[in-house]
Amino acid sequence: MYCSEHMSNDDRKNLKPIFPKGYEFPKEPRLQVKKIENKEDYMDMFLEADPSENMIRRYLSDSDVYALKMEDKIICIAVILPISKKVLELKNIITKEKYRNKGYAKILLKSLCGNYKQKYNKMLVGTTENNIPFYVKQGFDKYEKTIKNYFIDNYDKEIWDGKLKCTDIYYYSKNLVESKK
Ligand SMILES: CC(C)(COP(=O)(O)OP(=O)(O)OC[C@H]1O[C@@H](n2cnc3c(N)ncnc32)[C@H](O)[C@@H]1OP(=O)(O)O)[C@@H](O)C(=O)NCCC(=O)NCCS
Repeated sequence: MYCSEHMSNDDRKNLKPIFPKGYEFPKEPRLQVKKIENKEDYMDMFLEADPSENMIRRYLSDSDVYALKMEDKIICIAVILPISKKVLELKNIITKEKYRNKGYAKILLKSLCGNYKQKYNKMLVGTTENNIPFYVKQGFDKYEKTIKNYFIDNYDKEIWDGKLKCTDIYYYSKNLVESKK
């Protein structure tokens, strides 16, 4: 029966779509979070969020690096440094440009925070002014401190984030135990 005007409600419920033989249903790409051991290989990605290799090397060896992967492709990567028995710091997070604004950084952070909350109770992040709204959205909603002139004192070159010249760094934190984000 093809003419819907002549279908009863029962007919409609029983109607199943017919697919040609051999039709393959598109599969949902599978996302997984994986720990990365060969951290140095991702320096180019880290440099997109933190433009000094020297600064990255200060934290990279003591940090854990995790990637959100779709099949074999890396989509987003995050660097997390334990700074005390109960506190971690998110040092770097980057989504590859073509995958931005699709919710991938949010997925990676949510997964990492969910795991780290077994052992840690707070995650800090230091950020430029432009990125504060992004972190607040991810639950880093407690203002901790500002370090004045951080980018001037620690980097050889001037750092620009879009049209904003970076001078101070702003620290925010996320309560891993209570946050639902
Ligand atoms: C910042 C960055 C990691 C965000 O990654 P992303 O995968 O595009 O982020 P998501 O799509 O998961 O965004 C999650 C939410 O934050 C919002 N968001 C993303 N970037 C934002 C920004 N710069 N400011 C404000 N909100 C932002 C999104 O709109 C989304 O909001 P929604 O949940 O209401 O839809 C990515 O833009 C990036 O790699 N930038 C370059 C490197 C960098 O600057 N890293 C951070 C500096 S430490």
